[in-house]
Amino acid sequence: MAQEGTLLTPQPYTDDQASMRAEEEDALLTGERTRGREERRGWAFWRQIGLFAWAVIATILVIVLAVVYQHESHRVPKVPAHLPKDSWGPDGKPTGKRNLIFMVSDGMGPTSLSLTRSFRQHVEGLPIDDILVLDQHLIGTSRTRSSSSLVTDSAAGATAFSCGLKSYNGAISVLPDHSPCGTVLEAAKLAGYKTGLVVTTRLTDATPACFASHANLRQYEDSIAEQEVGEHPLGRVLDLMMGGGRCHFLPNSAEGSCRGDNRDIIDVAAKNGFNYVNSRAQFDALNGGVDAKLPLLGLFADKDIPYEIDRRSQNETYPSLEEMARTALKALSDATRDSEQGFFLMIEGSRIDHAGHGNDPAAQVHEVMAYDRAFSAVLDFLEEDSTPGVLVGTSDHETGGLSAARQLHTSYPDYLWYPEVLAKASHSGEYADSKLREYNAQSGKDASTNDKKEYVRYSILEKDLGITDPTDAELDAIVNPQPDISPAYVFADMISRRAQVGWSTHGHSGVDVNIYASSSKGAWPLAGNHENTEVGNFLADYLDVDVANVTKHLQDAASWNPFGMRSADGDYAWLGDPVGSDVGTDSLDTYHGDFRKRSLAECGCGGVH
Ligand SMILES: *[C@@H]1O[C@H](CO)[C@@H](O)[C@H](O)[C@H]1NC(C)=O
Ligand SMILES: *[C@@H]1O[C@H](CO)[C@@H](O)[C@H](O)[C@H]1NC(C)=O
Ligand SMILES: [Zn+2]
Ligand SMILES: [Zn+2]
Repeated sequence: MAQEGTLLTPQPYTDDQASMRAEEEDALLTGERTRGREERRGWAFWRQIGLFAWAVIATILVIVLAVVYQHESHRVPKVPAHLPKDSWGPDGKPTGKRNLIFMVSDGMGPTSLSLTRSFRQHVEGLPIDDILVLDQHLIGTSRTRSSSSLVTDSAAGATAFSCGLKSYNGAISVLPDHSPCGTVLEAAKLAGYKTGLVVTTRLTDATPACFASHANLRQYEDSIAEQEVGEHPLGRVLDLMMGGGRCHFLPNSAEGSCRGDNRDIIDVAAKNGFNYVNSRAQFDALNGGVDAKLPLLGLFADKDIPYEIDRRSQNETYPSLEEMARTALKALSDATRDSEQGFFLMIEGSRIDHAGHGNDPAAQVHEVMAYDRAFSAVLDFLEEDSTPGVLVGTSDHETGGLSAARQLHTSYPDYLWYPEVLAKASHSGEYADSKLREYNAQSGKDASTNDKKEYVRYSILEKDLGITDPTDAELDAIVNPQPDISPAYVFADMISRRAQVGWSTHGHSGVDVNIYASSSKGAWPLAGNHENTEVGNFLADYLDVDVANVTKHLQDAASWNPFGMRSADGDYAWLGDPVGSDVGTDSLDTYHGDFRKRSLAECGCGGVH
């Protein structure tokens, strides 16, 4: 319960304030000023004492009643009378066959919405009340801290959603004591639901990983890939996976692999029954899901699917998030047409976060619009499908400390930011950076500094980013980059400055994020401000599945390790080494002067998202 405790929280005040308050309260009770009352004892004095005693008794009564009421109303939320009967029964439990779609906008904070809304209005010439689909489905906000930090990473963030429990930054559905916690997806699978994951980053990245695998650290992506295709204590828990990250499924002897070993996980997937698709043509042959056969493994990029701003011009190579979402919904809906249970699907707009890490506002607004279209596609599905269902969407955290303003000079700034600067960019800083690398490796190899600058000025800045006024310092920073400031950062910063959009970090921030739903009725327990774990609890409650039972099952399997998956000894070897166990996993670190020190060696630039 989000509001628990607020009634009884004492207001802190000092002794001085306390005596002042006592006098004020006296004055209020008697209707007289406090000064000079010593002279009039007698009846009036005893009347005051009586009134005071009555006030104390009444206060105690109110507190007792409040405690009793709060206690009674704690666990089972009361269902508002107007709710549709087919989804929530009178005891606060949903009833009947139903589907649940959970969407994660990784790294999307409130400012991402403001920026995208204004950008879209500018580009499409829309009136100021023309808002995003998401804007029309806002129902609440989520607090995002992890067990180990006020600023979460995606792993702890997704563990809050999957297990409904707080854990440490880096944890893939394991608890601070390095034991596994059952996930809503695993519980759904055991209860007979079909399950799916759709993402635009690697399927082994933290958010999808947390629903269908367990690891002490998010970096154990090879193990995560193995678990996702069924080398898992519960067997295969996924019916559908679509996204990037092929490199962790390919043996390291194959081109495009990023595995540490020579295991062929595509082959393992095939042995576990998966149908494998790995190109746009094969995706199109799924015919929007009509011809999809589950279980299905779709890997459409070695690592990330390109940002939407770049993918637009490579549509013949990569499907969009919306296309993957529609295909997954159709496939899962068809596969559950005759079953008692529906499906659980997690869809992630994964790279809103990456655009935040890159401080790239042009890439970000296109990512948010792509997510908005996918959200809209899910709403269409729910409208048309005969099985009732709910869509809930939220972010795991904000990324970048994005701000819709920026002071560029010491003089007081004007109140504005310029969406047209973002509109002039046709590509991301990441794309510009890889184009520069290619140039440097080929025709630019023997070019003079001046020739390089000319190439950057015309073939990248003007052509791809719409920037026609670079300074010499900016061109220098791109052609002769500092070791910790990649040209990608410089490109994105050039756009941000010109648009007067601000960023406070290349990492995450601790601001509350939004919660969205297909209808405030269907997801009524999430209205208002909530802890991120309550979002996870909602998912399990809506499906009426027993996540604790799965946790017990996983923890009973402490010695499970049929595939010799990791090198760690003892219990839970399959979770991998709990490296960094000297680092606190269940409490916040304290300040130790870190504002001064940050060596280049430990700059996690672009490392952990
Ligand atoms: C992208 O390609 C698919 C088919 O391969 C097509 O259906 C879709 O309309 C294309 N989208 C754009 C924006 O061209
Ligand atoms: C608990 O989990 C086991 C498998 O781990 C499953 O067979 C059983 O049905 C589950 N019970 C409930 C009540 O979900
Ligand atoms: Zn994240
Ligand atoms: Zn991130």
